[in-house]
Amino acid sequence: MSATIYILKETQIGENRVAVVPETVKKWTQQGLRVCVQEGAGQNANFGDSDYEASGAEIISKAEFVNGSVLVSVRMPNQAIIDSLTKDMILIGALDPHSHKSHLQTIASKGIRSFGLEFIPRITRAQSMDILSSQANLAGYRAVIEAAHQLNRAFPMMMTPAGTIAPAKVFIMGVGVAGLQAIATARRLGAVVTATDVRPATKEQVESLGAKFLAVEDDEFKNAQTAGGYAKPMSEAYQTKQLELLGTHLPKQDIVITTALIPGRTAPRLVTIDHIKTMKPGAVIIDLATSQGGNVEGSVADQSVIINQVKISGPTNLPGTIASDASSLFSRNLYAYLGLILTPEGGLKSDLFTESMDEILSQSLLTNDGQIVHPQLKA
Ligand code: NAI
Repeated sequence: MSATIYILKETQIGENRVAVVPETVKKWTQQGLRVCVQEGAGQNANFGDSDYEASGAEIISKAEFVNGSVLVSVRMPNQAIIDSLTKDMILIGALDPHSHKSHLQTIASKGIRSFGLEFIPRITRAQSMDILSSQANLAGYRAVIEAAHQLNRAFPMMMTPAGTIAPAKVFIMGVGVAGLQAIATARRLGAVVTATDVRPATKEQVESLGAKFLAVEDDEFKNAQTAGGYAKPMSEAYQTKQLELLGTHLPKQDIVITTALIPGRTAPRLVTIDHIKTMKPGAVIIDLATSQGGNVEGSVADQSVIINQVKISGPTNLPGTIASDASSLFSRNLYAYLGLILTPEGGLKSDLFTESMDEILSQSLLTNDGQIVHPQLKA
């Protein structure tokens, strides 16, 4: 029997994305699935009810969930939706369970199986499902656009009859997915770009994008990458050297974008108040790490503050500000992920929650058999 997939309007404040766009709905309905979309679910991302209908979806005003159906969501649904879910349903989304422990407990107790897309392993086979990458890439792009908007200077060098304008200097700290896109975007706009990271592999990536790499390249730096490709927390001695190096570089910058993270830990503090006091008046800092404590001293999640004439913003949901593209990529990630759950005929695979479960699914499984099962979340 074919499965039913529900797509509801996101309930978290300021969330403009929708989990699934009409393009994906069309593929599923052609496969024989039933897809129910709540009225207005895609409105803030510019996908209208008529677009969903044309793709074969049923537009619903209120979800009456059927047994064994799947609810896909960008973020953790609110309590009212969770209360209306029925046993044996599957919930899939970027559920951020660390911030929603009681919601997850309710989901587990109700016998709902849930998957957290942020836990998908970063293996080659899972690249098409990797919502962290698809959304971080857009966040990196949008951070530069946001900074350009706030900066009261131009990005590119301009030679005019009235004289020459020097290019803006942009410094990217943390060169993962978001940082690399930030470098590429700032370069396209004509800025002089420098970037730093603690993983040696990033040096070549930075240089290949036409930016200059700057880091404390000592013995610790040479071993700063884990087998999984992430950064290790650095020693106090390294951090002191790093802060000193930044002390001479930051005063020259017009824009600083920080994206440095270490999975499961508080974000490393890279820019201090003392640094900020040496920066140019009107300089702009965008701290993309505020949801994990921030890279910049004084930055506040989802707020803008001014310290010593330096504008500091800490947006936590930049992908939500380019909701149309962000939703399209999220939707394609979900389509690839659901390929592991659905049969070619559009039914749920029969051996889903068994020993032979695909490792991409098992590593992102949050609740099963009435319990929270993810190792990072068990008490
Ligand atoms: P992330 O969001 O965890 O961290 C961002 C960046 O901050 C990283 O480059 C990290 O090295 C850097 N960082 C951490 N501590 C720092 C410090 N003290 N100073 C300066 N920089 C610091 O990273 P993201 O974007 O998730 O990517 C991590 C790695 O995973 C990358 O190597 C990326 O290429 C890899 N990756 C692999 C994928 C795959 O194979 N499917 C998919 C996506 C990413």
